[in-house]
Amino acid sequence: MSEKDFIVTPWEVRGEVDYDKLIREFGTQPLDETILRRVEKHTGTLHLLFRRKVFFSHRDFDWILDKYEAGERFALYTGRGPSGHTHLGHLVPWILTQHLQEKFGAELYFQMTDDEKFLHDPQLTLDKSVGFTYENALDVIACGFEKGKTFIFSDIHYAKTLYKMAVQVAKHITFSTVRAVFGFTESTNIGMIFFPSIQAVPCFLPSILKGKNIPVLIPAAIDQDSYWRGVAREVAPKLGFYKPAQLHSKFLPGLGKGGKMSASEPDTAIFTVDPPEEAAKKIMNAYTGGRATVEEQRKLGGQPDICPVYYYYHMLFEAEDTKLREIYVSCKSGNLLCGECKANLTRKVTSFLVEHQKKREKARDHLQDYILRD
Ligand code: TRP
Repeated sequence: MSEKDFIVTPWEVRGEVDYDKLIREFGTQPLDETILRRVEKHTGTLHLLFRRKVFFSHRDFDWILDKYEAGERFALYTGRGPSGHTHLGHLVPWILTQHLQEKFGAELYFQMTDDEKFLHDPQLTLDKSVGFTYENALDVIACGFEKGKTFIFSDIHYAKTLYKMAVQVAKHITFSTVRAVFGFTESTNIGMIFFPSIQAVPCFLPSILKGKNIPVLIPAAIDQDSYWRGVAREVAPKLGFYKPAQLHSKFLPGLGKGGKMSASEPDTAIFTVDPPEEAAKKIMNAYTGGRATVEEQRKLGGQPDICPVYYYYHMLFEAEDTKLREIYVSCKSGNLLCGECKANLTRKVTSFLVEHQKKREKARDHLQDYILRD
């Protein structure tokens, strides 16, 4: 793999991602000013994840807005592969999803693919992945989703409903399609080969449960696009449903050099259950866009564009654009050094974690109100 190469699949993200290239390769649309102005009409001030192009691409979002403006409600769908604890990178799409739920009054269907994670990870037992479904659900609830409008389900525990729909999806999808879309091989286990039909089901679930066609919008990181492009959007018309629309986000970088935040590199990922002192240590050890020495940095300035610490402000921890700009400018000019910048971020992350962990514990008492069962 040369430096310019990168890989984005549902199970692997590697290299320096060229997001414009993904728009071309996946055949999606950029979230341009025209559509953002339209969103703004409904939400008031644009959410920072829109403003800062963290969500950068879509499919049929304009159609969702057409429907909404014509008085038709859409449902939201997103999900999580519960292979371990939630980290900050997972929260990015959830934060935007919560915002959309609030502004558009949409129901949310949240899929926990404990089956997928069990099938994919040779070490993970089924009990563990199902266990993480309910641990991760606490983080979802802590993001502020509305009770009565938010339906979280485990693939394993909600199988009776899902399976009936999944076989109808599966009948229309050949091995040669999923092999091409997901890169499956002769040695891929057959559970994984069937699984994409399970992830397609929630695109149609709101319509099934309500007994009428409901538009569905999926906010998710762009690595999940294969499911919608290769499976859900292909079968939708054959089964008599609307094609699901998508909003695609970029990845939150890990605290190391390059690459997205990943649970398989725990030293460079901040988990929502990390004790604040531990998160602080990880930030202090983070890779930055700083120079080798203080003198050099004063002279040449830092490099925020390649700095994960800067991206944490940009994507999550600095809501005010003017303040973010100040950080950028004073880093570039050599005024703001990495130590101080990390210490400031640590304060923000720490207070976020303390608050989130409180909400997360409180969510234990309400968990059952959010869980969809059959
Ligand atoms: N496959 C996803 C993962 O491993 C989980 C998932 C299921 C999902 N349905 C989704 C993610 C819809 C985003 C949107 O994380």
